[in-house]
Amino acid sequence: MANVSVIGAQWGDEGKGKVVDWLASRADVVVRFQGGHNAGHTLVVGNQTYRLSLLPSGLVRGKLGVIGNGVVVDPEALLAEIARVRAQGLDVSPENLRLADNAILILPLHSAIDRAREAARGERKIGTTGRGIGPAYEDKVARRAIRVADLAEPETLSDKLDELLLHHNTLLAGLGAETFEKQALLDRLLELAPQILPYAEPVWERLDELRRAGRRILFEGAQAVMLDVDHGTYPYVTSSNTVAATAASGAGIGPSAVGFVLGIAKAYTTRVGSGPFPTELTDATGKLLGERGHEFGTVTGRPRRCGWFDATLVRQAVKVAGIQGLVLTKLDVLDGLPELKICTGYEIGGQVVHRLPASPRAQAAARPVYETVPGWSGSSRGARSWAELPAEAVKYVRRIEELVEAPVTLLSTSPERDDTILVRDPFEG
Ligand code: IMP
Repeated sequence: MANVSVIGAQWGDEGKGKVVDWLASRADVVVRFQGGHNAGHTLVVGNQTYRLSLLPSGLVRGKLGVIGNGVVVDPEALLAEIARVRAQGLDVSPENLRLADNAILILPLHSAIDRAREAARGERKIGTTGRGIGPAYEDKVARRAIRVADLAEPETLSDKLDELLLHHNTLLAGLGAETFEKQALLDRLLELAPQILPYAEPVWERLDELRRAGRRILFEGAQAVMLDVDHGTYPYVTSSNTVAATAASGAGIGPSAVGFVLGIAKAYTTRVGSGPFPTELTDATGKLLGERGHEFGTVTGRPRRCGWFDATLVRQAVKVAGIQGLVLTKLDVLDGLPELKICTGYEIGGQVVHRLPASPRAQAAARPVYETVPGWSGSSRGARSWAELPAEAVKYVRRIEELVEAPVTLLSTSPERDDTILVRDPFEG
């Protein structure tokens, strides 16, 4: 099996960046297929720390990076990110970065709507990143969005802006927010066009060629299964499908090309933004996990909510996304805790269930049923083989495998790229 798709199995921030970076060295091309600059991947390479939002992580390893049609692209954010990593010495050019000409553009009005709607929601806010992701996907489905290829056609841009502004200015005015002027938006898009268009192409054709030539493709997911617009904790989700199947439609390649589906999960659970979180710890242990795990959002800097590992949730992610192998990250954050809890089900209205129901009321009411397991006194940090791990840490991992019904394929024991225990090479299937 030549290809691998990497997705988050919880609520995001599972450490996909490190895993994708590690796998990228074995791939020929790395493809983003959903989400936008709401994602944040931190890569530590030598003494450089790269913070990527839109750029496929493979660029750091000198691999071809492809931004697929399923991604929503803020052209300003893309150019700023390219400039930022270039300043760190990374070479990014149309030679090594390709952008789907049918990807959707995020405009400043999308983030304005995103923020105005969140403000209007008050206590019921979703806790979005405010980057305009949801409104851009809405425009795509409503068939009024501007696509990358439109940048080459001033008349198309002008017509589409009329339709977009009719819709969005009405909404913005209703929400008491500032409206947008067509000419300023059009002028800016025409200014950006010559900087963006050199990257644009029908990426499906290139991917088809690469695939037929036997090249290894790595699909890099953003966010995670529990933020999937269908399978996640709706409405506290992002606006794209984050499951691995989306790699096919979001890049223009058949479902058989998605390859081995690798799900990433932290050895505990975190979440940013609002929404249900049955195993959340608001006590000293939650605080400790947050401090030890440096749990602050890469994109927004918000502190992440922390809690025990939820095997019921990850098992559900394994099933709905077809996860074939699990990568467990940040095991070392649990070092030294006297005992650990793993959630094996939820009590809802006096009944124990083994899935998170679709009803938001039931999700909010779900109380975790825990299994308590012993912690370990030794250190798991930096371990590169099972033998280097404390015995109780190995037992913890084995118990997780049983409960989530997926084998652990990789174990990450520190942010360093090589502090990884490989059980099975996902490129070998
Ligand atoms: P949006 O994607 O900005 O619309 O935000 C919707 C929800 O997804 C919010 O709860 C965000 O905090 C969450 N979210 C979006 N991107 C990420 C990510 O990369 N990591 C973790 N959470 C994210």
